[in-house]
Amino acid sequence: MEPSRDNPLARFAAFWWGIGVVSLFFVVLLITRLAKGGADAPDPLEEAARLKRLEVRAKVDESQKSHLNSWTVSQDGSTVKANPDAVFDLIGKQLVASKPTASTDAAQVVPGSATAEKLAAAPAGDTSAVDDLTAPAGTAPDAAVMEKGKQAFMLCAACHGLNGEGGPVGPPLAGSDWVAGPVSNLIRIQMRGLEGPITVAGKEYNFPAPMAPMGAASSDEDVAAVLTYVRNSFGNTAPPVSAEQVKMLRSEVGKPALKQADLIPVAP
Ligand code: HEC
Repeated sequence: MEPSRDNPLARFAAFWWGIGVVSLFFVVLLITRLAKGGADAPDPLEEAARLKRLEVRAKVDESQKSHLNSWTVSQDGSTVKANPDAVFDLIGKQLVASKPTASTDAAQVVPGSATAEKLAAAPAGDTSAVDDLTAPAGTAPDAAVMEKGKQAFMLCAACHGLNGEGGPVGPPLAGSDWVAGPVSNLIRIQMRGLEGPITVAGKEYNFPAPMAPMGAASSDEDVAAVLTYVRNSFGNTAPPVSAEQVKMLRSEVGKPALKQADLIPVAP
């Protein structure tokens, strides 16, 4: 048997060594602290920086105070000197009392709002001026415009049929008096949409859903192209529609959907 195993003191030698080393560490720490002249004495560098900060802060406060006290505020035409509290108070009240001005930009009007109702009551753009600009009967459409219009027509075809023959969700465009009639009607339908019963080529239709304002988000050129296309396809022949004509009726965007009665009547 090993003698060290029997001796309890020898068995715990490592423990006593540990205690010793830790105590020594604390003793050394204490001595260095005392040598520095007390644990609470501030670092001289830190102290210098702290004093400098206080000095700068005092300068900033002083300058702000003198500026704020020279503030003036205009009220009812007269300019008065005001302290910052009064200025903030007044500005706050003015902000709370201010109301945003209603937008009259047709594309931004909220449907059903007072502004929308006012716009709806406003007369349409000068439709006769638009129709007067229509090229004389027999004017052939531009081939490039027709090509552009054909592309755009894909959207219309969903409801009006690929050959404008009409279907369960849209009336025919082929042989429609509306399509061959006044250009202003067609442009306004694009800008505002169309709802309610409509008679096309002598037949009355009443679709469950209205036509949406398809042209509101398209350029003047695109609307002119698609209308020129439907006026010169599926057996229809009518003078082309110009981008200028479309532009003249942009103001219609944002107004409620048209009804047949809102359009210039065409032959049944
Ligand atoms: C979501 C289906 C739908 C789409 C897409 C659509 N329309 Fe219509 N369109 C209708 C409906 C429905 C009517 C009839 C509205 C009514 O009830 O008075 C109509 C009516 C018309 C009329 C007048 C009536 C007639 O048959 O001549 C024209 C012109 C017309 N649309 C052109 C177009 C053009 C051009 C496009 C593509 C830019 C287009 N529509 C896209 C559903 C649609």
